[in-house]
Amino acid sequence: MVAPLKVGIAGLGTVGAEVVRLIEAQGSTLTARSGRGIKVVAVTARSKAKKRGVDLRGIDWANSPQALAEDPNIDCFVELMGGAGDPAFSAIETALKAGKSVVTANKALIAKHGLRLATAAEKHGGALNFEAAVGAAIPVIKTLREGLAGTSINRVYGILNGTCNYILTRMEQEGLPFAECLTDAQRLGYAEANPSFDVDGHDTAQKLAILASLAFGTKVAQSAVYVEGISSIKPEDLRAAEELGYRVKLLGVAVRTAKGIEQRVHPTMVPKSSSIAQVMGVTNAVTVDGEGIPPITLVGPGAGGAATASAVLADIADVARGIRAKPFGRPVDKLRATSKAPMERHEGGYYIRLMARDLAGTAATIAKRLAEQKISLESIVQRHPDGVDINGTAKKPSPVPVILITYATSEDAVYRALEKVQRDKVISGRPQVIRIEKN
Ligand code: HSE
Repeated sequence: MVAPLKVGIAGLGTVGAEVVRLIEAQGSTLTARSGRGIKVVAVTARSKAKKRGVDLRGIDWANSPQALAEDPNIDCFVELMGGAGDPAFSAIETALKAGKSVVTANKALIAKHGLRLATAAEKHGGALNFEAAVGAAIPVIKTLREGLAGTSINRVYGILNGTCNYILTRMEQEGLPFAECLTDAQRLGYAEANPSFDVDGHDTAQKLAILASLAFGTKVAQSAVYVEGISSIKPEDLRAAEELGYRVKLLGVAVRTAKGIEQRVHPTMVPKSSSIAQVMGVTNAVTVDGEGIPPITLVGPGAGGAATASAVLADIADVARGIRAKPFGRPVDKLRATSKAPMERHEGGYYIRLMARDLAGTAATIAKRLAEQKISLESIVQRHPDGVDINGTAKKPSPVPVILITYATSEDAVYRALEKVQRDKVISGRPQVIRIEKN
């Protein structure tokens, strides 16, 4: 009979408490599935007195995460505190150097220190599992690392932040402004403590950097991700997208191009018919394009106590089974360096919304500037002009929205054309530009 896997948990917030509860409630199923008992033997958190709704009797209380990581009585250190630095980083490194396995849900830490920690795991023989760090209950890490180990991946992209998808969904469905939807997302507890982390795209960038490493064998590097958030998106963009057959999503995209691996996070128009466009609210989704196989899309809850605990338990079960996969799918010294792709060289379709002066020759000027850059248009829509007042007398012409959808072109060409259009003084304000991602 193999002795049970002895687990120590640092962090008893919503996720940590749920992990303790599930290990207790599902002990026999976990044992049957992993072939070994799993027992929480020690925990630590900021406050010992806090009520958590779980029974901690019979479980040791460690004085600090570091003390827990050093505890010779535990085999597996589970880090659920969060934060890219200490105490999480030092405690995890200590546990790995002691030959223990580590399970963490900490995307920020893995995006920042993943390589150093993976090196320690490889050297000392423990596992470093972080399924919950991306897409919570969606088993995307395992899919890329193990399930698709035999498939050459061309692109991995997805909706990796529930807060942004919730905001964009409500803006689209109810015509509400960004700020109002963000306030609701905070009230409902979806957003990070600092919501800029969500809406400015950094949370998605950390998750994408991890997926890109697994998909393409590159060194995990958040600095290699181009990042743009959703705060500039207006209800009128979502309305225009809808009419033209698109939806706007904050996507993280990692794609193999002739010039290298491009990693980018930005608001993106996706065809309404695509799987990713159907994903609404706080739900997350990841699509993987593999060589020779149709795209695979995984959809599910990307945040929350139960969803995150589900992935943490799966990782603990793998440790109990004795699985020691390379954290990033291959040895750290085989991972290739990657750098930030220059977005001016990005190629794709573009949505452009301009406020055009409602005067003869404006459309011709815009068309000429696009043609000079060899940009071909898939569609052009001009909104109703408002040049007549209620008495029927002509008003001073006010700007009217003009929406352009281009065929694939380079970002450089788009901005060169728009600069000239601005200099021609046929538009007012700054053009809105949104990249299009085709499936
Ligand atoms: N704030 C994140 C989100 C939580 O909205 O998806 C999960 O990482």
